[in-house]
Amino acid sequence: MIRSVVRGNGAALPRRIMKNADFEGMVETSDEWIVQRTGIRQRHVAADDETTASLGEAAARAALDSAGMTPADIDLIILATSTPNNTFPATAVEIQNRLGMHHGFAFDMQAVCSGFVYAVATADLYIRGGLARRVLVIGSETFSRILDWNDRSTCVLFGDGAGALVLEAQEGAGAITDRGVLAASLRSDGAHKDKLFVDGGASTTGTVGHLRMEGREVFKHAVGMITDVIEATFGEAGITAQDLDWFVPHQANKRIIDASARKLGIAEEKVVVTVDLHGNTSAASVPLALSVAVADGRIKRGDLVLLEAMGGGFTWGAVLLRW
Ligand code: ACO
Repeated sequence: MIRSVVRGNGAALPRRIMKNADFEGMVETSDEWIVQRTGIRQRHVAADDETTASLGEAAARAALDSAGMTPADIDLIILATSTPNNTFPATAVEIQNRLGMHHGFAFDMQAVCSGFVYAVATADLYIRGGLARRVLVIGSETFSRILDWNDRSTCVLFGDGAGALVLEAQEGAGAITDRGVLAASLRSDGAHKDKLFVDGGASTTGTVGHLRMEGREVFKHAVGMITDVIEATFGEAGITAQDLDWFVPHQANKRIIDASARKLGIAEEKVVVTVDLHGNTSAASVPLALSVAVADGRIKRGDLVLLEAMGGGFTWGAVLLRW
């Protein structure tokens, strides 16, 4: 059976780092409040010349390098983003052009913070369906552009960045010991739209708008939704939390990550946490966390890795893969 196997990964971050203390004087907040409520200590913020396309391109090039491939080897680019360079064309197509790639196809996927998990699950279906053999899956965001910098309840939470994976079709035995994507579960429920949304859009206000969030409401739903979809994924794969080597959750809030891991029975030392370094980078958060844990030698070939995300919509989902 065909499996979508990770051949390489990469990341890119804006040059500028903004520490929690840098908000003091801008809005009424403190390093102590931000660290205690979220675990965030700093985030990267894009300069004018750093965009979702440029960060995505840099992450894609790093992933191709680590795979020992060039753009000529890729058939499909899926970019997970909610902060595209333009309303259209898809920023994935712009990245395709920046890579000098004029074959294959590229499209954007919009599921807010769950975008990367949705994109990996989608890439896996394209590969197993035979429409692509090698796929660049990118999560790239510039949420700093849609923040209301006067709203302390949201502006301290988000950051910019990009991460990418190269997935390749390889023959597997159809067993849990195979490398590649092994199981995925995706969910959405638009009844929760008003809890986390951007108050502008092409078809409504004609403006880009700003992010609005009822943080407490999102928090209330997050742990239950995350643990449900992970348990469904474990069920599909026939594994338990003890079988996992690494849990790589969406990096929105350390308290949500800790509570989810505790409820699932995932040991603390198996949880990859980078929210302190990057803040919430939406669709980029999972591939950025992967890049840190691969670079420092934690995630190794053959490890069983669980990806999870939850975000605006609400959307949520999980992907189980063997690295
Ligand atoms: N600094 C200081 N005080 C603040 C700040 C700040 N930056 N922001 C809010 N406060 C105040 C509030 O005004 C409130 O004051 P009040 O009690 O006088 O009204 C108080 O702090 C407590 O506010 P809460 O909202 O109850 O704080 P909470 O403990 O819930 O933490 C947070 C807020 C961090 C937003 C949390 O609710 C959270 O993480 N929610 C989930 C966010 C999330 O997971 N999003 C994921 C998806 S993101 C996506 O899809 C794009």
